[in-house]
Amino acid sequence: MSPIVSKRSLEDLRHKCDIAEVIGAAMTLKRAGTSLKGLCPFHKEKTPSFSVNPQRQIFHCFGCGAGGDVFKFLMDFEGVDFVTAVRMLADRCGAKLEYEDGEPSPTGGRDHLFRILSEVADSFHRCLIEKSNAVEARTYLKERDLASETTEAFLIGFAPDKWDSMLTWGRHKGYSPEQLEEAGLVIRSDKPNPRNPFYDRFRNRLMFPIHDEQARIVGFSGRVLSASDTSAKYVNSPETPVFHKSRLLYGLDKARRHIVQERRATLCEGQIDVIRCHQAGLTHAVCAQGTAFTEQHARILKRYADSVVIVFDSDKAGRDAAIRAAAVLIDVGLVAKIAELPNGEDPDSFIRTQGIEAFQAALDNSRSTVDFQINVLSEEHDPRSEIGIMRITREVLMTIARTPNAVQQAKLIQQCAQRLNVPIEALQTELRRIRLPAPRREMEQPETRPDHPAAELELARHLCQCLDNPETVDLVRQYLPLSMLQDTVCRVLVEIAIEARDSGRPFHDIVADHNEPSGELSRLAAAVQEGPTKTGGEYTHHDAVRDLILFIHRRELKRERLELDERMRGDSNPDDELRVRSAQLRRDLKTLQQWDTALPLLKMHSEPAAPSGPSGA
Ligand code: CTP
Ligand code: MN
Repeated sequence: MSPIVSKRSLEDLRHKCDIAEVIGAAMTLKRAGTSLKGLCPFHKEKTPSFSVNPQRQIFHCFGCGAGGDVFKFLMDFEGVDFVTAVRMLADRCGAKLEYEDGEPSPTGGRDHLFRILSEVADSFHRCLIEKSNAVEARTYLKERDLASETTEAFLIGFAPDKWDSMLTWGRHKGYSPEQLEEAGLVIRSDKPNPRNPFYDRFRNRLMFPIHDEQARIVGFSGRVLSASDTSAKYVNSPETPVFHKSRLLYGLDKARRHIVQERRATLCEGQIDVIRCHQAGLTHAVCAQGTAFTEQHARILKRYADSVVIVFDSDKAGRDAAIRAAAVLIDVGLVAKIAELPNGEDPDSFIRTQGIEAFQAALDNSRSTVDFQINVLSEEHDPRSEIGIMRITREVLMTIARTPNAVQQAKLIQQCAQRLNVPIEALQTELRRIRLPAPRREMEQPETRPDHPAAELELARHLCQCLDNPETVDLVRQYLPLSMLQDTVCRVLVEIAIEARDSGRPFHDIVADHNEPSGELSRLAAAVQEGPTKTGGEYTHHDAVRDLILFIHRRELKRERLELDERMRGDSNPDDELRVRSAQLRRDLKTLQQWDTALPLLKMHSEPAAPSGPSGA
């Protein structure tokens, strides 16, 4: 699905961007010898075990094992996929990307829309700041207590009170009305008017540009200036090739990094709430706008956060929406908590009147969804009556049933039992009766790193640390059929080491060519390059590689012996062939203890050097 960036582009980009600079811009690094050190952003620590190696252009954490090249850093730090990391970096250093199909861009149309939207946002913004017809809008902003830095940061603008300002602007810029229509800026009139078939969608509105995760402007939300305006309070961009409301979270472009760092997000209802939070320094706030909070929204948050605090408007609609949003978050496996504000308040009004500390306290006091739900339901149904309790428990149990984690579920049941004063067993019985309306409840998959066999990692480690020593690399080439390596990632690393030795290209350049989407290859490549090896004194890389080759051959034979033993066990009278082979294996295993004795056997086992070469030595 995602376009493939050309190898040349990747290589250019890697040479253009210094990893030390990119990481240094995101966190504090101190020089330590030839490398740079800092506190790892990927796990909690007090003494720095995170190191950046500018020569190799990689990073590696000795504490948690995070690591990789500059792209992998952005993937982990910003929580984005490979292609997005590449684009972010390209944007940052003004590099143009080429794609494998040779086109300058796979989505000429979309890129064009991004440009139009970005230019029009600038134009709205300038209009707000300097135009005489925006006096009312400027006054409004002042009344709402939005600082000019905030206006700047969120690129808030003003769309003048006209029907044709977009068309005039487009003419001036060289954009056709059809292009403006595709960008969602103008509407085609119902009554065909040959002179003027299009009119402005946004008129006399305060304009909030909406950014996607890559901080590109994809649409707008426009608010009326006065309460007396009878048209809709907010007008939003329609669905366009770049604007998909159910997938966009307002503020995420700014909040993402903070969310990743804390693994926690704050979810508000409206964009002014988000802006107020950010202005007050609470930078992990986002909102879905003018639309229900969808599963897609939840999945996006799940990429960055483990838990979400919901803080919606404190009215009936807001409370109900909060519980619905919580259910969606729980469905995708996030921990959802709900914060309560005094009746009638929203984050915007509350922060303005009570200050950010009070708001922070409200967030800190957020309750589990179940707790919140019991509160809300107790207002509607009397928890002292039997029928009331039944109604409340039924709804609450639906929430508990969604919770994918058993421990969490048990905790919630306990809470619920205590608060409603019903026996736990009764709730458990009821819970078992609930069949959820077959939502896509995935098994909770802990995101653990894959295990790689120690010997294979060790082999990759030695190889890539002695690339200037061709004999050692040649040992592998001659005596180790790579098919014997069980772990794909390790196998690829060994292949890369061999290629690096042959071509003279830097190891990590070849790693990056692989463009492997999960980034596991990049992480492991950094780990093996930086990791300690068991060498020292007389014991060299060469010795270690020999031992590892022997070990892997023995492992292969042991596996075969195990199979053989299994077969012979099941057979009361095993045929001679099996017995002979078994005895052979035992002898070979002994032979493979020592390099000198093993050599003839190794030569026999190794794949022919070249198809045309003589078979057997
Ligand atoms: N919304 C919308 N269309 C509307 C009303 C609301 O798209 N007609 C969306 C907007 O994104 C808005 C959010 O729903 O930010 C929450 O609505 P509301 O609470 O009414 O707006 P506030 O964010 O509180 O805006 P304000 O403080 O300016 O009233
Ligand atoms: Mn509101």
